[in-house]
Amino acid sequence: MKDRLIYLDNAATSYPKPRAMLDNMVESYARLGVSPGRGGYDLATEAEELVRAVREKVATFFGAPDPNRVVFTSNATDALNLSIQGIVKPGDHVVSTQLEHNSVLRPLHHLNEAGIIEYDLVPFDGRGLVNPEDIARAIRTDTRLVVICHASNVLGTIQPMEEIGRVCAERGIPLLVDTAQSAGLVPIDMTAWHAGAIAFTGHKALLGPSGIGGLVVHPDIEIRSTRFGGTGIDSKSPIHTQTYPHRLEAGTLNLMGIIGLSAGLDIIKAEGIDTIRKREVTLLKKFCGSLKEMQGIRLMGDPDGTERVGLVTITVADMDPHDVAAILDADFNIAVRAGLHCAPIVHEVMGTYPSGGVRFSLGFFNNTVDIETAVEAMAVINHSRST
Ligand code: ALA
Repeated sequence: MKDRLIYLDNAATSYPKPRAMLDNMVESYARLGVSPGRGGYDLATEAEELVRAVREKVATFFGAPDPNRVVFTSNATDALNLSIQGIVKPGDHVVSTQLEHNSVLRPLHHLNEAGIIEYDLVPFDGRGLVNPEDIARAIRTDTRLVVICHASNVLGTIQPMEEIGRVCAERGIPLLVDTAQSAGLVPIDMTAWHAGAIAFTGHKALLGPSGIGGLVVHPDIEIRSTRFGGTGIDSKSPIHTQTYPHRLEAGTLNLMGIIGLSAGLDIIKAEGIDTIRKREVTLLKKFCGSLKEMQGIRLMGDPDGTERVGLVTITVADMDPHDVAAILDADFNIAVRAGLHCAPIVHEVMGTYPSGGVRFSLGFFNNTVDIETAVEAMAVINHSRST
């Protein structure tokens, strides 16, 4: 029989899901699983009140001024599509970075292919940091949007968001931030960052289920509706409701997901984001420190593990990353993700395209033993390669 699973793929999704979050979802949804904001009966009103309370909780979490502008989506990709497509107009220019995930690269590519926008991707340095001055230089008179990930899903590097936000604010350009890899791990303050919109997902470090995410919109920016349907408001009109949050929501909300997201946020609040971060940095330093000593193993990005969220991507000399991941799985019961991680340009720039790297990503439930086991496993794999 295999040893217990050591799950180090938390950048893909957190696992295991917290039992308290799951119990809360089942209990609350069993009691309140009606359509929020549609019927006038007590239960529908109560469900609507719950959704409103979660919008408030999310707004507080992200330092957002208006809970009505917290829009629920199915994940960060959905929120990024919604905002990018709802902001740009024909002839606009967009600035983004070479660090982005396909959730940004593909919407930009499709809009460009359709002749709607032009875009430029600014570079990053060896640690994975974007220089705010490079963003300033890339902004043109027709730039309509800057979009950047707070933390890269390959290098993990945490960007200087206040400085990037200042560059955008000084030029009056909305800043859209993808927090898929940082929300729940690093404090986020939309107001201090001068961010126009923040996209997040519920199923990673926010400790919720998959299928729920959102877009937090600052009152200073407008996003057009790009999908239309029922909102429970003004049903006589053929025009989609233009007030927030319904402006960007259509159809019945994922109430069970919203309940799970809320429970995940409660767990983070009870634990304390600083405590979570401190624990993660301790484990990261241990992991990076040990791997750095192994000849033939290359750590991508910041080598110390302090300026990044809890993920480390490595390459092993002469070995295909998928083979390393397969050995980790088969021989050590360690789950990691190998390949390009849906972020091909990062790997092109880092010289790891097309095979990619092996990504270890920590989560809420990992401990020192998990890290020690992963280090030992990598020592064995690396040793067998070189003998
Ligand atoms: N975007 C997620 C990852 O990086 C799925 O694995």
